[in-house]
Amino acid sequence: MTGADASGLPGEARDSVPRHVAIIMDGNGRWARQRNQPRHAGHRAGVESVRRVIEVCGEQGVEILTLFAFSSENWQRPRTEVNLLMELFMMALGREARKLQRNNVRLRVIGETTAFPEKLQQRIREAEQLTASNDGLLLQIAANYGGRWDIARAARRLAEAVAAGRLQPEQIDEERFAEATAFAGVPDPDLFIRTGGELRISNFLLWQCAYSELYFTPVLWPDFGRAEFIEALRDYARRERRFGRTSEQVDLAG
Ligand code: IPE
Ligand code: IPE
Ligand code: MG
Repeated sequence: MTGADASGLPGEARDSVPRHVAIIMDGNGRWARQRNQPRHAGHRAGVESVRRVIEVCGEQGVEILTLFAFSSENWQRPRTEVNLLMELFMMALGREARKLQRNNVRLRVIGETTAFPEKLQQRIREAEQLTASNDGLLLQIAANYGGRWDIARAARRLAEAVAAGRLQPEQIDEERFAEATAFAGVPDPDLFIRTGGELRISNFLLWQCAYSELYFTPVLWPDFGRAEFIEALRDYARRERRFGRTSEQVDLAG
């Protein structure tokens, strides 16, 4: 290995920067509990981690960042926590949209957003419109998202196209299916990170993570800083992605 450059990544690792990073931001509640604070203090602290990873993505040349902010199962939490998460989302969108705009970040919210309060939906539309023509980092926030919801909706969309005579069943292949999901036109995640120590996918990306490199860390989301993210990127750079081939074939294609 050559020495790390100022960016913190070893020189030869820079070709191995993932194009698309997806993160399950978990552990806010435990972070707060460790400090004898209410769970919402953890969610607030988590917003700071979001800012940091967006910054590092920009510096390292990651093109797409997908963050799991609220799952389709999170409605089952106490009403007060759900309301607080909605408020936090509102505030963060209001406060950060201009900053994203200045930093050439394009924001997209994926998930069943029609279930959100109308004011929040409006703010999402505004932030998406404000940043729509940016061509830097694509930031996708998965909110009221579920992997199974995405797959079921894709199946329904295709079935509707068949019923309307616009599509033949035999035209449905993996490519066309992928285009019917919320990730149409976006490459699959290369690196899939979960903070907070749980070793599960919790209904995040199911179709799209078929060949993602998985990275689990016990670090709680509010503690996931620049150094922890760089470490995940380094770990990714050391992986050999074979996609079913042999190591020798990968070396030859090198
Ligand atoms: C993740 O942190 C944030 C959301 C799910 C919105 P948690 O709130 O799940 O934190 P833990 O897992 O209880 O520590
Ligand atoms: C997954 O975290 C959802 C988000 C991070 C938004 P959870 O904390 O809700 O996951 P489970 O239910 O413990 O698996
Ligand atoms: Mg959790």
